[in-house]
Amino acid sequence: MRIASLFLFLFLCGAAMRVDADATAPPLIPLPAELSYGSGHLRMDASTSIVLQPNDAANRATAGYLSSLLRRTRGLSPRILASAPEVVAITLVRDPHATVVNAEGYALDVDAHGVRIVSRDDAGLFHGVITLWQLMTPDALHGAVQVPVLHIRDQPRFVWRGLMLDSARHFQSVAEIERLLDQMAQHKLNVFHWHLTDDQGWRIQIKRYPELTRMGAWRTPPDAGHDGEPERYGGFYTQEQIRQIVAYAAARHITVVPEIDMPGHAQAAVASYPQFGVTGKRPSVSVDWGVNPYLYNVDDGSFDFMDHVLDEVMALFPSKYIHVGGDEAVKDQWQASPEVQAKMHALGLKDEDALQGWFINRIGLYLAAHGRQLVGWDEILDGGVSVDATVMSWRGSKGAIKAAQQGHDVVLSPAPDLYFDQLQSDRVDETAGRIPAQSLAHVYAFEPVPKELDAAQAAHVLGAQANMWTEHMPTMKHVEHAVFPRLDALSEVDWSPAASRDWNGFLGRLPAQFARYRAQGIGYADSTFAPDIKLDRNAALVGGTAQVTLSNQAGYGEMHYTLDGRAPDRHAPLYQAPFTVKLPVTVRAATFARDGSMLAAPRQRVLDRTSLLSLSGNEMPNCPGSDFRLRVQPMPDATSLAPVYSINVFNACQLYPATPMDGVARIHVDAIRLERNYALAHDAKLVVSRPHNTPFGELVVHQDQCTGLVLATLPLPDPEHSVRRFTLDAALPAQQGGHPLCLIYTAPIDGPLYALDRVALIPGTTKP
Ligand code: ACM
Repeated sequence: MRIASLFLFLFLCGAAMRVDADATAPPLIPLPAELSYGSGHLRMDASTSIVLQPNDAANRATAGYLSSLLRRTRGLSPRILASAPEVVAITLVRDPHATVVNAEGYALDVDAHGVRIVSRDDAGLFHGVITLWQLMTPDALHGAVQVPVLHIRDQPRFVWRGLMLDSARHFQSVAEIERLLDQMAQHKLNVFHWHLTDDQGWRIQIKRYPELTRMGAWRTPPDAGHDGEPERYGGFYTQEQIRQIVAYAAARHITVVPEIDMPGHAQAAVASYPQFGVTGKRPSVSVDWGVNPYLYNVDDGSFDFMDHVLDEVMALFPSKYIHVGGDEAVKDQWQASPEVQAKMHALGLKDEDALQGWFINRIGLYLAAHGRQLVGWDEILDGGVSVDATVMSWRGSKGAIKAAQQGHDVVLSPAPDLYFDQLQSDRVDETAGRIPAQSLAHVYAFEPVPKELDAAQAAHVLGAQANMWTEHMPTMKHVEHAVFPRLDALSEVDWSPAASRDWNGFLGRLPAQFARYRAQGIGYADSTFAPDIKLDRNAALVGGTAQVTLSNQAGYGEMHYTLDGRAPDRHAPLYQAPFTVKLPVTVRAATFARDGSMLAAPRQRVLDRTSLLSLSGNEMPNCPGSDFRLRVQPMPDATSLAPVYSINVFNACQLYPATPMDGVARIHVDAIRLERNYALAHDAKLVVSRPHNTPFGELVVHQDQCTGLVLATLPLPDPEHSVRRFTLDAALPAQQGGHPLCLIYTAPIDGPLYALDRVALIPGTTKP
């Protein structure tokens, strides 16, 4: 790929400086393959129109898309005409013989008279139109815009530029999915991998098997009907709705790749049709996140079922690729079943992994006989799979390396790097998700071609995909927060030439993208730029003054702050170096881009004795020995992105950091009872169980270490007869000097899980 322009050269040189990229560079995401400037600008305004070639009905939708996007985001609604008018025009030309670009590519020229976009195919024209829309929305303003005279030649680096959405764990409406597809289109992403079936729900109507959606689409949440928990949760997409989504995507040049997960993650299907499971028994649709034990059977009747399901799937989805999962199938049920074992031996297969290989190959042959191609998670390699299968590498990149070396096509979607259910930052105000955080910078730095591959093997890398699992994303607000702006980083990873990757330049192009999000009501995360207000807590508690440091994850932008209660704006003091404050005071700070737009909404920190002694459970680390940690949000709380609670399902133990204890008289805990709905498969034995002295367990507070002196034991209320949020309060013995605390829940591990919402140490008169 050629990266010809001086512009890019300057861009790369700028990377070393922590300043905005070339202020005149158009804020395009993803960055085009080639861009060069002429001189001057073209003014585009309400009189600008779009000219479509006569007879190009196929691209009328593309022209209409541009017009409607401009209306919503720029207040301009160019008319669509068949011939060039006198006024400035955007001319769209699709020419199958154009030599200027490759598949999905386009050339875009702006001169003093108008804009011309030429492509070989419809997708290329669409991508060119999106680039033009971005050129016309370089800021948050409405009305006329000056677009620089320039020449762009652009084409994608990869053919598979994907985003997966899990609609099984939590369910999204058709309108919500269409909004997501719009954003994919605006980022030149072209594969929507739709995870439609799982243990917790079957979401696609299959007319031959109505129980799949009558029963399989609904689960009864633990604690249903109590404390705001709904009586049942679920939903499904009718075939008509699926056709609508597929058509909506196709109009935006996105292929929908459906996933029907097998042989594991099958509990909702087995709950609907137990005869296609292994045990013959009917489980309920699972409410447990993680790895559930239910597998499909391997008898002919079960394959007939899967073939019939796939018949309807293939009729709905024109995609060449059909995803059949293959992940996380724990083999306990197959091992325990004499019939399955007999079949395995009759087939001459050495173990259950080989049986899964045989299973997947059988499904692959069925798809191939219908002109389709199988794609599956990297476990499909474990039992040996036909080289025609495409492998989606999620257990890191090693599956992709092994598969490409064996000649499989591969898609990189490794956890945790491209798992958008990982938090974006460690901030205490970050919403639900998995830990560790995967920052925007981390996603931006992802390289889809593993360095272990030689050139021939690297040619098997189709591209990269981010996965939006939704166990901990109860609403679309959570999904949007998790996806944006990391989708911007993904789009550049997937589309732009590898050599043009430039983090600082990317940051410089984000303010315009944030404005586009705001214009479309997209709830993007500002975590990358949010001010962290840091100080030495203990020094402040002892001395009554604090040295305050402001920073953010990206180390980018201008932070302005106030100490007088006013909202920080650009006229507030600019943060340049740590400053000293006298308590009590409230520090407020916000981050701004060079163009004056706000990169991160104001954050505040109250600095007084009470606040400094009160910590959220989200800022209290795990006890040593177990890193596992999630932030969760129970459904009834999910009307906004907070509150969220940190849990470790293996060990309910957290540390309150060292604090001067002189004068601390009590401990006050805002606690929450949560469902212990985690299927841990063979890891269940790792859950730490502790003795308790009262029926429902206690919260035990130890001094210094988790084996240290017990300072307080706070019995937990009866879960059957108490609300899920409760407070615990106890006197503490007098202590001197600094001590950390270790807080342990001793509740039985076959009952609910407990989390710390907030822990406050209360000053007062202590008993000696
Ligand atoms: C997966 O995350 N189980 C593919």
